Amino acid sequence: MSKPVNVAILGATGAVGTELLELLESRNFPLNNLKLLASPRSAGNTLKFKGETLTIEAVEESSFQDIDVVLASAGGSTSKAWAKTIVEAGAVMVDNSSAFRMNPEVPLIVPEINPEAAANHPGIIANPNCTTILMAVAIYPLHKIQPIERIVVSTYQSASGAGARAMEEVKIQSQAILNGEQPQPEILPYPLAFNLFPHNSPLTDTGYCEEEMKMVNETRKIFNEPTLKVTATCVRVPVLRAHSEAINLEFKNPFSVAQAREIIAQSPGVKLLEDWQKNYFPMPIDASGKDDVLVGRIRQDISHPCGLELWICGDQIRKGAALNAVQIAELLLEENWLKPKVSTVKV
Ligand code: A2P
Repeated sequence: MSKPVNVAILGATGAVGTELLELLESRNFPLNNLKLLASPRSAGNTLKFKGETLTIEAVEESSFQDIDVVLASAGGSTSKAWAKTIVEAGAVMVDNSSAFRMNPEVPLIVPEINPEAAANHPGIIANPNCTTILMAVAIYPLHKIQPIERIVVSTYQSASGAGARAMEEVKIQSQAILNGEQPQPEILPYPLAFNLFPHNSPLTDTGYCEEEMKMVNETRKIFNEPTLKVTATCVRVPVLRAHSEAINLEFKNPFSVAQAREIIAQSPGVKLLEDWQKNYFPMPIDASGKDDVLVGRIRQDISHPCGLELWICGDQIRKGAALNAVQIAELLLEENWLKPKVSTVKV
């Protein structure tokens, strides 16, 4: 058992923040003291932790004194604004935002895949994008046996990826539409209830949106495969909190379906779930609230002798965000890697 540490959750009131709180409690994280931080809007509000009532504080310069680990999930601009203060206070920030993920000095970690890369951090460790984590956990065990040459992925992403207020918007919108109204979206750009749309992240020069490019670049960094071929189409669907992905993998040599099933069934962080008789495969309702990424419908790609098709579902808030962050913090404690080994990072 590791020595208890002082933890702060930055963004404690959000969809990921409240899940972080639940995970620290249910996983019995070795805590000495827990501080809940959010914007001034939430200051003075309370949240329950292990039967106690904790008061939320507005984040300020002195918030990180005596803190060992900051679990940050308050958006990229908030992470950027506080990173220097956090690092200078001697804490390590496990950052759920995209602010530092592609910084070459900042490790991008999925504990089942590249835990050793967390040893050399500059006081910041990045938690990857949710769709990327879910895909990476599911396919890395296959990649380890036989290198993947190309990934073609389409995602079906829930509202939770856009935060707690987006989830609320979809519920209210659904009710309003059932009442015959035409609600105007406020958080998401278009109505999501009874609808779907290509992912709303900004478009890049390539024609891909930022979410799609995160899947490309972050998978390469996590796998340490800078030239891996990845193409993604990301879509927002009216599901509340678990993402689904249709993944086509191309290997150098044929990969048998039986072997792929066997590997998935034995790998950490994933669970094989398929009943071909009943045409039953992972669904968001199966994955919601679960730690494992569910994998099923593994089949030979009939268009390519070295191709496999997979269908996965994973809880975006849990393994896609909060659980992975808590696992990173647990790894740092277990390995005694809390103190930075790399001295500087431009923040
Ligand atoms: P608040 O509830 O006070 O606005 P989500 O991703 O679910 O929308 O949650 C975002 C989280 O980030 C919330 O906890 C939110 O707090 C917090 N947050 C947003 N902006 C700031 C900020 N400028 N400073 C600190 N926390 C912030």
